[in-house]
Amino acid sequence: MSDHRQFDEGDAFETRAVHAGPEPDPTTGAVVPPVSLASTFAQDAVGQHRGFEYARTGNPTRAALERCLASLEGADHGLAFASGMAAEDAVLRLLLPGDHIVIPDDVYGGTYRLVADVYGPTGVEWSAVDLTDSDALAAAWRDETRLLWIETPTNPLLTIVDIAAVAELAHDRGALVVVDNTFATPYLQQPLSLGADVVVHSTTKYLGGHSDVVGGFVAVDDDDLALGLAYLQNAAGGVPGPFDCYLVLRGVRTLAVRMDRHCENARAVVALLAAHPAVAEVRYPGSAEHPGHDIARRQMRDFGGIVSFSCAGGESAALELVASTRIFTLAESLGAVESLIEHPAQMTHASAAGSPLAVDPALVRLSVGIESQVDLVADLKQALDAAE
Ligand SMILES: Cc1ncc(COP(=O)(O)O)c(C=O)c1O
Repeated sequence: MSDHRQFDEGDAFETRAVHAGPEPDPTTGAVVPPVSLASTFAQDAVGQHRGFEYARTGNPTRAALERCLASLEGADHGLAFASGMAAEDAVLRLLLPGDHIVIPDDVYGGTYRLVADVYGPTGVEWSAVDLTDSDALAAAWRDETRLLWIETPTNPLLTIVDIAAVAELAHDRGALVVVDNTFATPYLQQPLSLGADVVVHSTTKYLGGHSDVVGGFVAVDDDDLALGLAYLQNAAGGVPGPFDCYLVLRGVRTLAVRMDRHCENARAVVALLAAHPAVAEVRYPGSAEHPGHDIARRQMRDFGGIVSFSCAGGESAALELVASTRIFTLAESLGAVESLIEHPAQMTHASAAGSPLAVDPALVRLSVGIESQVDLVADLKQALDAAE
């Protein structure tokens, strides 16, 4: 990682979110550096270049993003990818036929599909386990277990996993620990400081923050692991384009203020849902009744902007509800400034249908945006009243 003049690793998160990565353009002083679109870079002599040779291997805009996100995760190394799934794929390529991976039993549906349907047929073995149950985790462990995959909070059930405790168990048995930190973001939770070895992100979500880019990211401390993943990043080539990198960099500058508002608005929405008769159960790690609340308090700065709930009227009520909000847009994805509502069983988690990871069809997931809290609560209330 090259030296950087404008920020200091000792600066607070909010300062690094603004200053880590982009530095004023050395030729013009522009405070927003130009998006570097070149696919190749002139060399002074064979093998003598100025840090960049070919844009799949690296380019200045991607390097700025990688520096910035690595700093925010408190990591020594960062690698950007074309999507969250491309980032996950690079990490899973560390597994060889015969190796075993443990995934959460409510892992994101796309992760499940990649592990079970893409890596499974290549001879990689997997088990889906309730990671809040240490006995179940110990029972699922095998001599061949090389990776433990954690997601916390999970998508869509918002299960909280104790990263430090589970990482200790995995390290005692010689496995690497990966945390998908997409829901929390490094502003709310920093898995490497809790003992994880690898952090993955869908930067499509809160890091980009504006529903206008698809991207992924991997952060690690270990130099050898970083070299191996950089090799795979270049060899398999699942890299983001420069403009996508720029969009994520721009999004990250406001991450801290956006996350504060997402969390605040989510609390107001939870208060409405918890008191509404059309709602059977609310899942939000910030609620005192949530089984992972105490762990979340310990390992997160705040509880995030995603709220899930099951409808008392079952699947038909859930389907009716998601189609009857005005401000909450019915759409997949999450983590952007606008509020979204969706039906996981038929939308984001349809790939888990018919599997042990299938989602309750009465479940609705909200990505609470940064609009007016009053408007958001009123919008949900009219939809819930109608569904009652
Ligand atoms: C927790 C989580 N991880 C990974 C992904 C995959 O990211 P992408 O859609 O950017 O490939 C998603 C997408 O929804 C997600 O929610």
